[in-house]
Amino acid sequence: MAYVRKNQRDLTAAERRKFVHAVLELKRSGRYDDFVRTHVKYYTADGEDGLRVAHMAPSFLPWHRQYLLEFERALRAVDPTVTVPYWDWTRDNTPAASLWGDDFLGGNGRKGDHQVMTGPFAYARGDWPITVGVTENRFLTRNFGNPANPVGLPTRQELAAAEKETVYDSAPYDSTSRTGFRNALEGWGRASGTGRWRTHNRVHRWVGGLMLGGASVNDPVFWLHHSFIDLVWSRWQRKNPRAGYLPATHPPLGSSQRGRVVARDEPMPPFRATPASVADHHRLYRYE
Ligand code: CU
Ligand code: CU
Repeated sequence: MAYVRKNQRDLTAAERRKFVHAVLELKRSGRYDDFVRTHVKYYTADGEDGLRVAHMAPSFLPWHRQYLLEFERALRAVDPTVTVPYWDWTRDNTPAASLWGDDFLGGNGRKGDHQVMTGPFAYARGDWPITVGVTENRFLTRNFGNPANPVGLPTRQELAAAEKETVYDSAPYDSTSRTGFRNALEGWGRASGTGRWRTHNRVHRWVGGLMLGGASVNDPVFWLHHSFIDLVWSRWQRKNPRAGYLPATHPPLGSSQRGRVVARDEPMPPFRATPASVADHHRLYRYE
């Protein structure tokens, strides 16, 4: 039976408590930091050599779908009633949202060092020391909206514009792809400054602190953000049933992306899953 991923705003107090408890249990056992390490390892950009699976690549969406599934499986081994909720940031777009409450993810970082002081992931609570991907401070940081150079959350209209794309991805299948749903949603813009960050990327920028960069998984909001990205993809798939993953086959010999991106039936390391194998999630989970 498929289980349900809910909008975080609809969780009951008991559901919020169970989710937090399962996340803290994975942290205590060391499993959580394994997930952070995996993400850091696969945080590869256009400019680097070799295969890119997680970011700036067509498999951005299926790679994170599989990654969330494995995290959710770990959570459900702790508590089989838990699933990964989603954060619709077009709707819950202020620091007053219940998402940031003391009984859920805690709030913004304080002035100065941006340390999160409230909620279960505050350093002083002792349950959430940051150990992977940081050089100095071991506390969780956030800096909502980056006041020094303000960045807003994507609006409903901006998300709708991305969803209007009718082709999955386009050459050169990296952060410079001008058309296609994948890059419109991943959000590599052509403008400089804050215009570089759109949709998915802009949400990472808005939260700020550890949500910037490869170690972003250290902030548990990462999962709720990517659950919503996965929902948006799922909705797009339903609306565009014939628009399959691209590239379907290897980019041709001589293409700059040959050996750099995975085709539809190729595994996405470190997983055995392929873009084709995760295309339909409805037997495993659905969104409510
Ligand atoms: Cu990622
Ligand atoms: Cu992300």
